[in-house]
Amino acid sequence: MATARDALWQIAAGTAVDAPAVESLSAEAFDPAFREAWSAAQLVRGLDDPGTFLLLARAPGRPLMGFALTRAVVAESELLLCAVAPSSRRQGLAAALVEAAIAEARARGARRMVLEVRESNHPARRLYHRLGFLPVGTRPSYYKSVTGGAAAAITLSRAFD
Ligand SMILES: CC(C)(COP(=O)(O)OP(=O)(O)OC[C@H]1O[C@@H](n2cnc3c(N)ncnc32)[C@H](O)[C@@H]1OP(=O)(O)O)[C@@H](O)C(=O)NCCC(=O)NCCS
Repeated sequence: MATARDALWQIAAGTAVDAPAVESLSAEAFDPAFREAWSAAQLVRGLDDPGTFLLLARAPGRPLMGFALTRAVVAESELLLCAVAPSSRRQGLAAALVEAAIAEARARGARRMVLEVRESNHPARRLYHRLGFLPVGTRPSYYKSVTGGAAAAITLSRAFD
């Protein structure tokens, strides 16, 4: 689908078969305090929806490096989840995954993409800002932490041309 700038990794569509690999990457990638990761069973259920699609970043002979899970329904698409393994960060994988998700959502008829990001997730906020997403709302205390704390969600949106 898309090729990385250094050609060491590629982005391609995934299926429910890839759910266990996505689950183990998620366990490593997400802050466990906020339980943002999806289980393999949740992913399989999500992929039952024909509007939901999974993109994977892989390199030959390596464990899964990153993924993006997106739902596109008519004009609207939502980036549900995106993560890159800690050892593969700052190589442009997340940016390439999100751009590939946007390309696929557009091909399915979407006119914009929305997502929720935790206010305290500064790397992700920088990523989405750089990719042209703009804040359109805030949900206070949307994310509950396992220690009883809470964090706001910021809703971001990027309109397609
Ligand atoms: C957020 C995340 C997906 C970024 O993945 P990544 O592959 O490292 O991101 P990229 O290499 O594509 O970064 C693109 C740009 O985003 C910004 N960015 C990414 N990580 C950053 C960090 N740790 N600090 C500051 N800016 C960051 C930078 O502008 C970066 O460009 P640059 O490297 O040229 O400065 C990754 O850190 C991750 O998996 N985090 C845990 C899961 C998560 O929070 N997912 C998002 C919410 S669903």
